[in-house]
Amino acid sequence: MLRKNPDICQDFLFMSKILVTGGCGYIGTHTLVDLIENGYEVISIDNFSRSNPSMLAGVEKIIGKKIKNYAVDLCNFDDSHAVFQENTDIKGVIHFAAYKAVNESVENPLLYFENNLFSLINLLKCVDEFAIPYFVFSSSCTVYGNPDSFPVTEKSPQKPSTSPYGTTKQMGEQLIAELAQTSLCKFILLRYFNPVGAHPSALIGELPIGRPQNLFPAITQTAIGKLSKMTVHGNDYPTRDGSCIRDYIHVCDIAHAHTLSINYLEKEKNKSNCEVFNLGTGNGVTVLEAIQTFEKINGIKLEYEIGPKRPGDVIAIFASNDLAKAQLGWNLNYSLTDMVSSAWKWEQKLQSDKDIFSGNSNN
Ligand code: WQD
Repeated sequence: MLRKNPDICQDFLFMSKILVTGGCGYIGTHTLVDLIENGYEVISIDNFSRSNPSMLAGVEKIIGKKIKNYAVDLCNFDDSHAVFQENTDIKGVIHFAAYKAVNESVENPLLYFENNLFSLINLLKCVDEFAIPYFVFSSSCTVYGNPDSFPVTEKSPQKPSTSPYGTTKQMGEQLIAELAQTSLCKFILLRYFNPVGAHPSALIGELPIGRPQNLFPAITQTAIGKLSKMTVHGNDYPTRDGSCIRDYIHVCDIAHAHTLSINYLEKEKNKSNCEVFNLGTGNGVTVLEAIQTFEKINGIKLEYEIGPKRPGDVIAIFASNDLAKAQLGWNLNYSLTDMVSSAWKWEQKLQSDKDIFSGNSNN
């Protein structure tokens, strides 16, 4: 499904080469597709520590051509530097490559500090040396902690993070903001709320590690029978039905915001050298409402039990996306119905093609 955005200026971008780190991961693959559909040339860096080469094959099936991936660990400066030396025509970098499992980060904080921060610093050193003009950073709504008021705007205070993972995102943003004051590179920080769903083709989607931590893969794996039942982590929160509220957003809408961000910088529409945008729908949905929507749209009764609250969970969070809409020209193309139906279609595809997708995961 080719989805060219007529608002994307064709002057600058024809064959502009964009380096996508973590390009074989969940959001990375969807962003590769969107960039190519909108006229960009792409290369990827992904060492498959949290992703699966089969996902790149899915991207190639959708766009009908091969993608160059460098299986490089960004924590190795020399190997990362070599990629830039071989591709001196890189016009922009979109940086996804990081570990992002909240509970894993609590169990192993140093693994997260080392991987997420060393890789970012190495990448920024290359961006500086090779004078790359544009850099888009994958950040997260976790930087807000437990917000006091809603919807959350880009100016909402950043509370102490609830996990080492969130701390690496807060520190990453601070590093970049500091660098932007003197760098010739222009930066955009994108704060994702809860990315869910899969590309309409069901050729790419989310491949969680082992037992899924995130809600949507837990729902779809329970529905398909990989899990006998799932647990709703708490139903006595101060919310309309007692379960936590999140801003679920389709991964394809998240992906397109990255293409728009690069184009926004190419057209020099940025107001400063480091701008922040929330990527959420603006709608808060409870865990139980997400389950009910999945059941209704897919005609499936889900087996779940109510369990204890999960440490580190924020009670409620949802975004104001006014700034991304106004500045980037970003519009939502996918509904909650699209999210639950595409997630289910992807889970069914995984089941039917399980030999292809076995093995490692993309995180
Ligand atoms: C959502 C709600 C759970 C599983 C994480 C990352 C965040 C971002 C999005 C990257 C919570 C409940 C879940 C289950 C449940 N990632 N739940 N049963 O924790 O909001 O955010 O993903 O940017 O950085 O922290 O997402 O999907 O894990 O949880 O009841 O089996 O679903 O308790 O209330 P979360 P999640």
